[in-house]
Amino acid sequence: MPTLRLPGLTDVHVHLREPGYERKEDFFTGTVAALAGGITTVLDMPNTQPPTSTPEHFREKAALAAQKIVCDLGLYIGATTTWGDAYLPVAAQACGLKIYVSETFGSLRIEDLALMHRFFRSWSETADLLGYRSSEIPHGIGPVAVHAEELMLPVCVELADLYDVPLHVVHVSRRSEVELLVRAKERGRRVTFEATPHHLFLSQADLPRLGALGDMRPKLGTPDDVAALWQHLDAIDVFATDHAPHTLADKGVTAPAESPPPGVPGVETMLPLLLTAVDEGRLSVEDIIARCVIAPRRIFGLPEQPDTYVEVDIDTRFELTNSAVRSKCGWTPFAGRTVIGRVERVVMRGKAALEGGRVVASPGEGVLLFQDRPSG
Ligand code: DOR
Ligand code: ZN
Repeated sequence: MPTLRLPGLTDVHVHLREPGYERKEDFFTGTVAALAGGITTVLDMPNTQPPTSTPEHFREKAALAAQKIVCDLGLYIGATTTWGDAYLPVAAQACGLKIYVSETFGSLRIEDLALMHRFFRSWSETADLLGYRSSEIPHGIGPVAVHAEELMLPVCVELADLYDVPLHVVHVSRRSEVELLVRAKERGRRVTFEATPHHLFLSQADLPRLGALGDMRPKLGTPDDVAALWQHLDAIDVFATDHAPHTLADKGVTAPAESPPPGVPGVETMLPLLLTAVDEGRLSVEDIIARCVIAPRRIFGLPEQPDTYVEVDIDTRFELTNSAVRSKCGWTPFAGRTVIGRVERVVMRGKAALEGGRVVASPGEGVLLFQDRPSG
């Protein structure tokens, strides 16, 4: 069996749901699922309940995570209308600031330009205070990450430029957005962006088959939007899953649901999907490493993980199924797809974390990132 050895991957965009939505996922099940997908570092989003928007809620979440994680994890803080920029005292301990300016799951949406000024300005001032003015951030703070679709995207690109803040745009999905970002990069703007496996490997053409399980934000694109992502592969900095587990009951599949939440899980299927694309000649292994290891480290100032690697069987074809999913949600929008790239073994810091497909790391063995970064 040919085995491919890769560095541990980083997924810069996951929702592990704790605290508040533990029926969907928690820090243990979410990081187990990550390891099963060859991912050894995840960055967790702030749209939990309560949202990760004050130093107190941040510290409570960090304490929960530290006890349960089996891979390394960084925490985003989130901008809210209620709490403003109350998160600033823990800015350096977070992996970045997340601002939702487009429709999403949870209560973190910002629709007010004056507030947007404030978030960018105070992040910029905090970066100055901490001596952070470059994309190398060993002792600084992370970027501002935005969920900004359509016309909100140029607003965020402009604000980031006005306040000289590094901008990371999450889950870019439309041709118009990709082309705007390509142009912004050509013009020297300090902006990076990610694309998800579901926007790369699914389109609106899959919706009749997927039903509610094909609903996420941003929504699936047209086949032309998908083609634009592949056409501008070179400009895509990062592949990230937006792992957004919701139970089948929440999604209205096994029980009636009035307004099913958007979102699909992804940490377990990203690597097989990408390696299958390699097998098909659409991508190279170097492309994966550049976007799932090297760029995340650079953009978020992640520490290296010594002696950490993933062994993947790239010979045997297998079918992605709901029953194999370890995430608490128990399903994948890619069920039924035949892929290569089963993760057989994960070693973290010289010690097996996953062996023969089974997780052997104990809760708390993952490292909570950035907690020792100086606060200024
Ligand atoms: O589909 C989505 N689900 N998009 C988001 O931006 C949030 C996510 C979630 O938290 O469920
Ligand atoms: Zn998300």
